[in-house]
Amino acid sequence: MSTAENETIEEAPVTNRKQPFPRGFLETISTGWADRPESLPAARPQAAFAAARRAKVSAAFPGKRLVIEAGSLKQRSNDTDYPFRTHSAFAHLTGWATDTEPDSVLVFEPTDAGHDITLYFRERADRTTTEFYADATVGEFWIGPRPSLAGVSADLAVATDHLAAFAASDEDVTLADAELERFVSELRLVKDEYEIAEIRRAVEITARGFDDIIRALPDAATHARGERVVEGVFHRRAREDGNGEGYDTISASGPHACYLHWTRNDGAVIPGDLILVDAGVEADSLYTADITRTLPVSGTFSDVQRRVYETVLEAADAAFAAARPGVKFREVHEAAMTVIAKRTAEWGLLPVTAEEALDADAGGQHRRYMVHGTSHHLGIDVHDCAQARREMYYDGVLEPGMVFTIEPGLYFQIDDLTVPEELRGIGVRIEDDIVMTADGPVNLSADIPRTVSDIEAWIARGLRV
Ligand code: GLY
Ligand code: MN
Ligand code: MN
Repeated sequence: MSTAENETIEEAPVTNRKQPFPRGFLETISTGWADRPESLPAARPQAAFAAARRAKVSAAFPGKRLVIEAGSLKQRSNDTDYPFRTHSAFAHLTGWATDTEPDSVLVFEPTDAGHDITLYFRERADRTTTEFYADATVGEFWIGPRPSLAGVSADLAVATDHLAAFAASDEDVTLADAELERFVSELRLVKDEYEIAEIRRAVEITARGFDDIIRALPDAATHARGERVVEGVFHRRAREDGNGEGYDTISASGPHACYLHWTRNDGAVIPGDLILVDAGVEADSLYTADITRTLPVSGTFSDVQRRVYETVLEAADAAFAAARPGVKFREVHEAAMTVIAKRTAEWGLLPVTAEEALDADAGGQHRRYMVHGTSHHLGIDVHDCAQARREMYYDGVLEPGMVFTIEPGLYFQIDDLTVPEELRGIGVRIEDDIVMTADGPVNLSADIPRTVSDIEAWIARGLRV
């Protein structure tokens, strides 16, 4: 069931499960529907923020015709598509989020004064059309009500026009142009108050999802694929209270915790092991959280697990203490890595001293146990601002309004012969979401227990405070 089939049904290549529409259907389907009087909505809260972002883009590209595409549906198999996810820059510049119409384009038409900006999208077809009843991809009979041009114009406070009125030109600057792609990525480095509120919302829902996980641990421990039990309860929370997950949940128990992107999640959850859960809810606005907690399945850490855990916590706290406006983003990472190098050297794991390991050229021996970075920007994308220049990102300076993770870890793989046997198979990461303010960093996820004693009390209680 996919496309128009009334006139062309005889020629359609796939007719094995399609029935032609008989004349009686065609003569009656367009009539008998109630009018849809439309009362235009007030502009949504993000509309004013999106307008301010568009003004910055306009000022940066005078005289250029800019075309920002939302993107199109992507086929999953034959007539089944993946859920639609609009381009992050498009969402940022329009305020449209999960409700974006596929194939929309935001056009900046140059004028003497700047740009005229128009959002083109495929308006709903009325009930006299074939699309209405026979197009399973966009027809309202199939997918439900779609918005009108006037409705979207009021909702997003932007001029709208029908997609058919849009014509591309060879002169257009699009997101395939590196300069525009970089500009719209760097435009997201500092979040406005709407964005910070939405990230807070995503973190709050994620916290509830972690509560659900805590309560599900006993059940997970009885299931052959307990990691999926954990993934599943988080998914339920993400879908019920948000749009879904901002990335695939990592539910990694025992030695799986050492595989940094373990998303197979098909392992058992065994009492005595730690389970590392890296999960983040994406709000309906598309802003996402990105949080990791490492939990003892039985409810209490063993001595060796506690030693590893408290070292990672020490690294996280050192990174947090280093973060303040004016400090380079990389210095946050360096603060965490200094702790990791010091402790792994003390434990006799390194063939060199901590100082030698921290040497920028000859060092890095400790990175075997924490190969990833400590921080990344967070926003509409979990790894936000990915096309920003290095001097604006890793070598850039922290400013109020930036939102980023702090997520050190220690991972001793099950077959790593450089560590004592008692450490093998232990993986710990602690990941929090931080907003920088003029007064210093604020940990948005501080309410999700992160010390050994708070986690043990959390599991005993089954809920945060
Ligand atoms: N969940 C991916 C990351 O922590 O960066
Ligand atoms: Mn992260
Ligand atoms: Mn993460």
